[in-house]
Amino acid sequence: MAGALKFPDNFLWGTATSPTQVEGHVANEWTEYVAPDGGHCRLACNHYHRYAEDVAWMAQLGVNAYRLGIEWSRLQAAPFAPLNRQELERYVDLLDRLKAAGITPMVVLHHFSNPLWITSAGGWLNPATVPAFVDYVTKLVTALKERVGLWNTFNEPDTYASLTYLLGGFPPFRKWRLLSYRKTIQHMAEAHVRVGEVIRRAGHGGRTPEIGIAKNWTFFGPFERHALWDHLLAAISHHAFNGYVLDAFLGGPRRAASTFLGVNYYGLARFKNFEPMVPAGGACRKRLARLGVVCDDMFERHPGGLGIILKNFHRRYGLPLYITEHGAASSDEDFRIRDLTEHLRELHGAVKGGVDVRGFFYWSLLDNFEWQFGYSKKFGLLAVDFTDEKLPRKMTRVGEFYRGICRAGAAVAPQDSSVASR
Ligand code: FCB
Repeated sequence: MAGALKFPDNFLWGTATSPTQVEGHVANEWTEYVAPDGGHCRLACNHYHRYAEDVAWMAQLGVNAYRLGIEWSRLQAAPFAPLNRQELERYVDLLDRLKAAGITPMVVLHHFSNPLWITSAGGWLNPATVPAFVDYVTKLVTALKERVGLWNTFNEPDTYASLTYLLGGFPPFRKWRLLSYRKTIQHMAEAHVRVGEVIRRAGHGGRTPEIGIAKNWTFFGPFERHALWDHLLAAISHHAFNGYVLDAFLGGPRRAASTFLGVNYYGLARFKNFEPMVPAGGACRKRLARLGVVCDDMFERHPGGLGIILKNFHRRYGLPLYITEHGAASSDEDFRIRDLTEHLRELHGAVKGGVDVRGFFYWSLLDNFEWQFGYSKKFGLLAVDFTDEKLPRKMTRVGEFYRGICRAGAAVAPQDSSVASR
């Protein structure tokens, strides 16, 4: 394969989902939410009942890793209660099926959702949530420690805390509560350290488990070079979402709680007169196109930034890294294939340059419930037809392209893939 960029043999080529976005039948703070497009998470992709089929799809994709969430609200009905055996068995069966398919699981313990009894007690603003979470994780890890060696404690604490308390995008839809934002981050960081200890003590069949958060990294900048106010807003955003959060989880002695750092990377948000120039922030796609902004249905793309941030994290923390999420939402599959190719080229450059990156998880396995946006964002390697009550899955061209990458263990250029050029 001409131009193929080979990755290390033990590299994890994976994909990712989260419970609220794919499982359906959840009872958490998202259950009652209805997005502007009418979408809600009550059935989602019905992965809850269809996981065996979805594992078969993963085997077909040729991934050797899967980042999945375990939904706290399914497993504990009250603080400090025993775990629900039947629900636990379902996750055990899923993990066993992954193992049989040669797919390594990375388990996410918190991905934007909480049991309703946590929500009604004040969520992560309440310090009592920390010991409740530690209790839950202790029981879960005891049950799964032989099967799981890669634990991702919190997914994007910055996104969770900012959308709940600063930007009003996630339940309880509060805005500009800076203290609540900081409190949430601090409680989650404390919980990360404590459950890290629990996981380490539990072990993983004689081996050492891996523990880390997934940090969403967004670059912020001004749209126009001379707009000082937008420079200022970018600097404030960078501090609040990146600097403050990394410091809370990895600063000083807390660094020792993690054995890896997960990076969720989507791109860049630039401001024009205080307005974020990204579709996820409400900017009009046509206007962005006129201004020459290259973006998917969420963020401006910035593949070069991936190399920059990986090198920076490597220097700063010296921890092994995983790309715990990258993907693009678009109905233009050629765009998504190009986007993936460009990001993998950057990733390969970083690995070649000595950065210890151990895996890449494509977001997402399935088109799914994209939180406040409902079903309008198409991220799937598999397309899901939500208008058909059977929710059929269908391989996309991006999925076929990714299969070529997983099989070769190398980032192939689109022209090397017979499917990409069809
Ligand atoms: C990340 C989230 C994930 C999904 C993707 C598009 O911020 O972790 O659940 O929403 O973005």
